[in-house]
Amino acid sequence: MKILSVVGARPNFMKIAPFCRALRHGKANVIEHVLVHTGQHYDENMSDAFFKELGIPKPDVNLGIGSGTHAEQVGNTMIAFEKVIRERHPDWVVVVGDVNATCACSITAKKEGVKLAHIEAGLRSGDISMPEEINRLVTDRLSDLLFAPDRLSCENLNREGVPKERIKFVGNIMIDTLEANRSQAERLSLMDVVVTHALDLKQDPGIDVLLDGRFAVITLHRPSNVDDRRTLTDIVGFLTNEVARDMPLIWPVHPRTLERLNKFDLWNGIIASPNILTTKPLGYHEMLRMNLGAKVILTDSGGLQEECCVLGTPCLTLRWNTERPVTLREHGGASSLVGNDVKKIREEYKSILENERQPRRPELWDGHTAERILDELVETCTNHRLT
Ligand code: UD1
Repeated sequence: MKILSVVGARPNFMKIAPFCRALRHGKANVIEHVLVHTGQHYDENMSDAFFKELGIPKPDVNLGIGSGTHAEQVGNTMIAFEKVIRERHPDWVVVVGDVNATCACSITAKKEGVKLAHIEAGLRSGDISMPEEINRLVTDRLSDLLFAPDRLSCENLNREGVPKERIKFVGNIMIDTLEANRSQAERLSLMDVVVTHALDLKQDPGIDVLLDGRFAVITLHRPSNVDDRRTLTDIVGFLTNEVARDMPLIWPVHPRTLERLNKFDLWNGIIASPNILTTKPLGYHEMLRMNLGAKVILTDSGGLQEECCVLGTPCLTLRWNTERPVTLREHGGASSLVGNDVKKIREEYKSILENERQPRRPELWDGHTAERILDELVETCTNHRLT
């Protein structure tokens, strides 16, 4: 049995790492595995660093797609991936998450008549203006096996008419990675992380020590938050004038966001703010260390929302909707949706500061999702189900 799995962008790497490990440990004798990196993310700290620290094998193929418009990224990936499929003849293509690589490789695999499995199936924000939602809908519609992380996602798939035998509730593979790396992250010093990755080398941190439970973290990268001058200016105003006055604020800056902050003349104000410590994008262990210690995290990342849920870190999600409702406070999680309206962010920020850390573990978020996925794949293939 030959499985070809695909990664493209940062949030894919933590999802493929446990799958590769399970393949190595469990079924290496019956499965031939080919790992393809589309190259959508290519910077050392957006890509290579994750392969090293998460022990992901070097990709067998790198398509070198890089940046571009969505059509360019998807189109170029499809053209390059079709050649790989024709050369390698996999039985299954396994895709993860909801990035452009996921969608592009799903379409190509199906057009080439190859069976398709999607890890993290069934997430729905209901917001079709998000590129990730389009990627999820297309990928799930085409998939032969849909590995869902929670029961709400299974319900979404049921509602859309996906045949029951294709939906497999396996839990959240991101949590496999979290559990496998937690103790290594705990050993890191907060201040070392910040100093090592400081974005502005001239910047004097102005702070000698960061204490657990006494700092905030922000990450932003969604076009809806960073591409509009007014929106980004308001968020930055709130961070500098309010959050950073309460406690040190750590900001690992995504390349898209850095570019916009410069374009909108906001960057100099941020680095002049003594309590804001900006860094390059952090590695996995480093970000996990921040999450383990933060008083509050403000973010528009879906993955961080899930990690906050399991670690119990109070989380303000700077979006109006989420495809991960299981992480919300109303479902027992740690995060609140606050959109990008500063009045709403401020209100929830003040109330969340009163909250204690409360770890939660949705069903099957137990660190063993990859093994369940592999067992299902092997069984489906061996018994020639879904033919
Ligand atoms: C992508 C994913 C998003 C995910 C995010 C996490 C899609 C549709 N979006 O968004 O779901 O949450 O990654 O990071 O696939 N850039 C670099 N170096 C890199 C990568 C990107 O400088 O290694 C810059 C480029 O200028 C690029 C911009 O960042 O134009 C955005 O990158 P892109 O891959 O288009 O989308 P993301 O916003 O990162």
